[in-house]
Amino acid sequence: MDGSSENSELLKLGVFLPVGNNGWMMTSTAPQFMPTWELNRDVSQLAEEIGFDYVFSMAKWRGLGGATKFWDFSIESITLMSALAAATKRLRLVCSIAPTIVHPAVFAKMAATLDGISGGRLDINIVSAGNHAEYSQMGLYPEDFEAHRYDYTEEWLTIVKALWTQPSVTFDGEYFSLDDCRSDPKPVQRPYPGIVCATNSERGFQFVADHCDEAFIGGAIDEVRASTQRLRELADERGRTVTTHRHINLIQADTDREAQELFEHYRDGADWEAIAQVHGPTRSRADVEEVRRRNLPRYIHYFTTAYPGGPETIANVVEEYAHSGISGLLLTFPDFLDGLRKFNENVMPILRSRGIIAPAPERSAARV
Ligand SMILES: Cc1cc2nc3c(=O)[nH]c(=O)nc-3n(C[C@H](O)[C@H](O)[C@H](O)COP(=O)(O)O)c2cc1C
Repeated sequence: MDGSSENSELLKLGVFLPVGNNGWMMTSTAPQFMPTWELNRDVSQLAEEIGFDYVFSMAKWRGLGGATKFWDFSIESITLMSALAAATKRLRLVCSIAPTIVHPAVFAKMAATLDGISGGRLDINIVSAGNHAEYSQMGLYPEDFEAHRYDYTEEWLTIVKALWTQPSVTFDGEYFSLDDCRSDPKPVQRPYPGIVCATNSERGFQFVADHCDEAFIGGAIDEVRASTQRLRELADERGRTVTTHRHINLIQADTDREAQELFEHYRDGADWEAIAQVHGPTRSRADVEEVRRRNLPRYIHYFTTAYPGGPETIANVVEEYAHSGISGLLLTFPDFLDGLRKFNENVMPILRSRGIIAPAPERSAARV
């Protein structure tokens, strides 16, 4: 992902699009909303207008239920990105695909088409099907798949890249065989679109170092620093370059105190039944009670870290990440449009004055 910033030292900003209902808030006291096309279009256009670098849509096939029906409603990543390609001009578009779900020759053509529609703005997030429940419901997660899901993903991606770069592909592998397989036209971007992967496992890091350009990593700031370093070393050994991004959830208010109160208000509405599903189907009442007893507040912000704060505090958090070695931050908000507007009005000017993000795009004042 080379983004649009001229200075590669500048932190890139992305929005993790709300393709699942309620975004990343597993609580009944945060805004409740459906993942409509209109919402995702408006969020993307606003992000583009205020100077963000990219939007990212995940692949999601099954929700977690509970009182809020968390992510029981989700729209499909590639279909969405195809429409966003026509509705935006500058943003990079990161779509997600789980290799287990589509044949590599089908995906190679879908991606080449989408890269063409977007004028070469496509990046692709490879989801190695870590979430068992999503794929076993389709019979696409054989019993031993966990042990070799990255081997499968590697073979799949090797074929996709071959189809993007070669006139004809004949391949006889562990999982696929192709005989004089053709795929034209090639993607607009040469040799092909950027490849990204979200992982925290050592096997995932190896996969990233071998095949990807970007990794989305988790953990506290020290872990982010260590993972970035580890990935750089692995990529370096292979003569490659890999950069890292981190997803965080921002709870913004005018003051730190108000933001903290909002944070606690959201925690009070935690959907424990849905939260109990995060680590796999745990449907018994005892499981739910155990999660509630341990009161894991971070889980109301699905698998990410939430930062409550007024403008200065939020700017300091972003700055700390910017100095941890990552190249970008992928942001979510309880209310995406309101959150983006607040971030643009209150936080981005501070970040720009500190030289952390790119200058404002020329037209940014017009509609925001
Ligand atoms: C930025 C980001 C994007 C992600 N996108 C998806 C996705 O599209 N679909 C999905 O099922 N999981 C997604 N995940 C979750 C991880 O990809 C998933 O848990 C993966 O199995 C982790 O890899 P690992 O098992 O190697 O640690 C995402 C996570 C992050 C941080």
